[in-house]
Amino acid sequence: MKKIVIITGGNKGLGLGLANEYHKNGYRVISISRTKNDKLYFEEQYQCDLSKTDTIENTMIEIFSHFDKNNTTHITLINNAGDLGTVNTIENLAPININYTINVNLTAPLILSSTFIKLTKNWNCKKQIFNISSGAAINPYESWSLYCSSKAGIDMMTKVISKEQKDLKNGISIVSIYPGIVDTDMQTKVRNTPKENFKSVQRFIDFHKHGELLSPKDVANKIYHLDVTGELKNGQILDIRNV
Ligand SMILES: NC(=O)c1ccc[n+]([C@@H]2O[C@H](COP(=O)([O-])OP(=O)(O)OC[C@H]3O[C@@H](n4cnc5c(N)ncnc54)[C@H](OP(=O)(O)O)[C@@H]3O)[C@@H](O)[C@H]2O)c1
Repeated sequence: MKKIVIITGGNKGLGLGLANEYHKNGYRVISISRTKNDKLYFEEQYQCDLSKTDTIENTMIEIFSHFDKNNTTHITLINNAGDLGTVNTIENLAPININYTINVNLTAPLILSSTFIKLTKNWNCKKQIFNISSGAAINPYESWSLYCSSKAGIDMMTKVISKEQKDLKNGISIVSIYPGIVDTDMQTKVRNTPKENFKSVQRFIDFHKHGELLSPKDVANKIYHLDVTGELKNGQILDIRNV
C-alpha cells in the first residue's frame, strides 16, 4: 500500500529536506519545480514554472494519471515552493514582478489545492494539504509587501478550505506551517539585499552570524513527526518554533 507526497520545490532548500524525510520513511515523493536534479533518484520530478499558472492543472492531471487510488493509504500535497519577490517599497515594484510572486506564492497553491481536492474527491484514504507559510504572514516587514501579503493569503486559504472540507465524508485536512528561519537560498537572498532596499537586513545578517538558522533537515523532521503523530489539525496555523 502506498503513501504519496506531492511537493512543490522538492529539489532544494526546505522542500528537499521534506522530500528526503518522507522518502526515508517509505513515501513515494513527487516534486514539481522549474529545474530538475538528476542526482535525486528517489524523486519523480516534474518541471513546471508555477508562475505560468495555466500549466499547473495539466501537470497535476499528468501526475495523478500514474496513481492507483485503490492502492493508496495516504496522499499529501505540500505547497512549499516560494519566492521572496523583489524586495523594495511598493512604489518601486514593477507590475510584472508583482504578478510573478503572487502567482508562485498564492495563485499556484490555490490552483494546486483546487486540483488536488478535485482529483482525490473519490479517494477514501487519508488526504492532507500542508501550506508552507511564514511568520511574515502576520509580521509586516517594510519592502516585503509581495511576500507578506502572499503568505497572509495562504493562511486565509487554509482557513477557508478547512471550513469547506470539515463536514464532508472523507474531506481533506489542511494546515499552514511557519517553519522558522531556515538555512536555504532564500535566506542568502534576504541577507544579500542592499540596506537601502530593506531596512531590516541587519537583523537577518545577525541571525546568520549568531548561528540561529534552522537546518532544512531538522525542520523537515519536526514537520514529519507532527504529521505522523496526528498533531496537525484541520485549519491550524502552526509555528513550529512553538511546538
Ligand atoms: N528559508 C526560510 O527562512 C523560510 C522562512 C519561512 C518560510 N519559508 C518558506 O519555505 C518555503 C521553501 O523556501 P526555501 O527557503 O526552501 O526557499 P529556496 O531554497 O529558495 O527554494 C525555493 C524552492 O521553490 C522552487 N520554486 C521557486 N520558484 C518556482 C517557480 N516559479 N516554479 C516552480 N518552483 C519554484 C525552487 O525550485 P526551482 O528553482 O527549481 O524552481 C525551490 O525548490 C517557501 O514557501 C518559503 O516562503 C522559508
